[in-house]
Amino acid sequence: MPLQLKVYVPPHPLIQHWLAVARDAATPSVLFRSAMTELGRWLTYEAVREWLPTYDAVVESPLGQSPATFVNAEVPIAVIPILRAGLGLLEGAQTLLPLASVYHLGLVRDESTLQPLCYLNKLPEQFAPGTRVLITDPMLATGGSMVAAMSELTQRGVDPSLTRIVSVVAAPPALQKLNNAFPGLIVYTAAIDEVVNNQGFIVPGLGDAGDRTFGT
Ligand code: PRP
Repeated sequence: MPLQLKVYVPPHPLIQHWLAVARDAATPSVLFRSAMTELGRWLTYEAVREWLPTYDAVVESPLGQSPATFVNAEVPIAVIPILRAGLGLLEGAQTLLPLASVYHLGLVRDESTLQPLCYLNKLPEQFAPGTRVLITDPMLATGGSMVAAMSELTQRGVDPSLTRIVSVVAAPPALQKLNNAFPGLIVYTAAIDEVVNNQGFIVPGLGDAGDRTFGT
């Protein structure tokens, strides 16, 4: 079935470079964290196009009047890192969205069933109408974790069409599952890898992004 969900893989050399660093099994944790920060920054830069609200104005430059466009700081922006691995992308995203509220959501997959379990939920009871939401999680494997996250968000008033997912490696099972549940979603990812193995890891992927980010 064709996807209604939109998936963008920005052809940007900095995204490709930091993806290569992150994929390399020889990359130590300290550098893997830098790669996650940079991927968070550049994928967020791409993801906020046509999403970040702006308003038009006129400013006085030292030499005259100019039409101008500002980011509208009155429209609420929420960044949702999916713990643990999504924290690695958060720092880069925050450099571009310094006024965003950050709501942590802790999900971990059961190693045998691959079902996500929620162990921390700092989401507000209700999001203000029109809130722009950006979710960070480097891996979309079976898609169970992201569908669970989206379900929590939509129950609290989040509009999927105002939501952007920033991922690093996405696999077709996750994209299909997200498409079935939330067809209006838009995903930004550094790569799409075809295979999810029977332990739930994307191949070739990055390995366990949470463990590699935190050196555990
Ligand atoms: C990883 C990853 C995603 C999830 C993806 O997290 O960061 O959240 O698995 O898998 P799915 O698409 O099959 O649900 P993990 O459960 O390993 O927790 P961690 O981030 O704490 O390492």
